[in-house]
Amino acid sequence: MNTFGRSLRLTVFGSSHGPAIGCVLDGMPAGLEVDEEGIRQEMGLRRPQEGIGTPRKEEDEVNIISGVLDLRTTGAPITLMIENRDVDSSKYEQFRRLPRPGHADMPALIKYPNHDIRGGGQFSGRMTAPLVAAGALVRRILEEEDVHIGAFSRSIGDVTDHKGRGLEDSRFSRTLATRACEPDLDVAMRRSIEAAAQDGDSVGGVVECMIDGLPIGVGEPWFDSLESVLAHGMFSIPAVKGLEFGDGFKSAMSRGSQNNDPYRWHQGRIITRGNCHGGILGGMSTGMPVLMRAAFKPTPSISRKQDTVDLERLVDSEVTVQGRHDPCIVPRAVPVVEAVAILTVADLMMEGGFIAP
Ligand SMILES: Cc1cc2nc3c(=O)[nH]c(=O)nc-3n(C[C@H](O)[C@H](O)[C@H](O)COP(=O)(O)O)c2cc1C
Repeated sequence: MNTFGRSLRLTVFGSSHGPAIGCVLDGMPAGLEVDEEGIRQEMGLRRPQEGIGTPRKEEDEVNIISGVLDLRTTGAPITLMIENRDVDSSKYEQFRRLPRPGHADMPALIKYPNHDIRGGGQFSGRMTAPLVAAGALVRRILEEEDVHIGAFSRSIGDVTDHKGRGLEDSRFSRTLATRACEPDLDVAMRRSIEAAAQDGDSVGGVVECMIDGLPIGVGEPWFDSLESVLAHGMFSIPAVKGLEFGDGFKSAMSRGSQNNDPYRWHQGRIITRGNCHGGILGGMSTGMPVLMRAAFKPTPSISRKQDTVDLERLVDSEVTVQGRHDPCIVPRAVPVVEAVAILTVADLMMEGGFIAP
């Protein structure tokens, strides 16, 4: 369905080239201050950057049309709406017959014969804009609990950041277009995106996200474990194809003695030496930072000629994708990953009684 969350429920609506996109956020506590400037800043981080993002220019002005009065939440469902203004649907009609490899066109057209193909319809990356707006609203609740969430680009194309990173690095990455943690990496990642774009191609990468300050025990057994719900949210982001927590796939190759993080009593609380477990054991937070990495595939819409099937004539055919696309999704996905982490953690903290609903 188009709804995510239990205590804090988010429903998304709209399509890429329809009049608007948006979301309804139900379950927000009443009386919470709404930071309009904070929302604008987060939306700005999702905006495409010159040379490495789509040329589609959307203002992404967020209209709050219910649930907020005098910049405070009323307790009623909050509706956030973002108009689609810079729309050019002319290049999409051919995909109704010639679906783009790698995009949602083929299964969507077979499943929904009246699918809105313009801009990818409801499967467009544009649908992540309301998530970012909602995340910016909800971030306030977590900050009041001293829970802080940050993400950055761990890799783009063949460029990987090998250093250990923290929330400070993620904050700094907000100043760089690729969301790298250092200017040199930013230059290298930008080059990798530009080189692919020049070849009529695209690149993917990895977004790393940290959740700091969670109390011990967030996450409900069995199916609402912290990992399960985060994975549900993360895999709902278009183009996410892999996810790992802590040492993730690397832990499959290590020994228990290497992978177990020994406990220590430190300044009145239990900590672990090392964080292979990524802050989650038994589906519950351990009090150590939650560490998570989401793999994004290369953007499916590339300008090279590709093989496809003509859905009208049912013969092999070819398609050349035109229109405006991101040669790399990763930089714009960083605030989306943060937003989904915020929404998930806030929901689970409400579920578990860590935050009053
Ligand atoms: C922020 C963001 C921007 C995106 N931009 C594009 C784009 O410009 N062109 C494109 O083909 N796909 C883009 N995508 C990815 C597609 O929406 C996605 O690959 C497609 O819906 C198929 O879904 P799947 O990759 O999850 O299987 C974007 C995704 C995100 C999260």
